[in-house]
Amino acid sequence: MVEFAINGKKVTAEKGESVLDVAHREGFDIPTLCYHDTLGSDGRCRLCVVEVRKGNRKRIATSCLYPAESGIEVFTESPDVLLVRKTVLELLLARCPNSETIQYLAKEYGVTQARYRKDNDKGKCILCNLCVKTCELNVGAAALGMSGKGPFKKVTTPYGEPSNDCIGCGACVAICPTGHIYIEEKDGVRTIWNKRFELARCPKCNRYHAPVEQLAFIASRSGTTMEQLLICPDCK
Ligand code: SF4
Ligand code: FES
Repeated sequence: MVEFAINGKKVTAEKGESVLDVAHREGFDIPTLCYHDTLGSDGRCRLCVVEVRKGNRKRIATSCLYPAESGIEVFTESPDVLLVRKTVLELLLARCPNSETIQYLAKEYGVTQARYRKDNDKGKCILCNLCVKTCELNVGAAALGMSGKGPFKKVTTPYGEPSNDCIGCGACVAICPTGHIYIEEKDGVRTIWNKRFELARCPKCNRYHAPVEQLAFIASRSGTTMEQLLICPDCK
């Protein structure tokens, strides 16, 4: 066990736990965009910065990657933290001016207009990598990846083509913090990542509920029969 302080409150943590996890458990509000309970974080959004003091030294650190350490003092809203967080939000707002999530956070931190030139070609994507990770690690499909470098980096299926690995489950849509991923359902067809999926109808209520391809994927991995999977969650 390690003992340290967050905003003056003594807290304890398991060795290896991140400062962010401990802070959230103790009820401190630290904003995040690229963190998820099931996947952790790659430290991409930099919104979770905190001030860490150790003896006479102090530094700004990303709390999602900073391991809890005995004797440190963490401050979640010091003037330096607020300044860095504000700058991060200015940059995110310039990158994704149409993201409601970023607009909301920016407003919370007093950012009304960005000093940086607006990007008009990034949509709402902040390259957090959560969609890529959930597809691979939570779903087991690995249909998405990052392509390109620098300003051209983007999340995509291989060559931007409909992917054989995509099962149309929409886990990427659910986890995306900024609402970037386009999904449409119309007349029994779901469209996502340029691929069209026939939706299965529940034999009991006749409602469309999941792509046939997704159900077949689950059946192949779990041993559950298609007949069972065709029944929607509400009718089970
Ligand atoms: S599409 Fe969404 S989840 Fe995927 S990297 Fe971009 S912001 Fe993150
Ligand atoms: S949550 Fe820590 S960098 Fe995004």
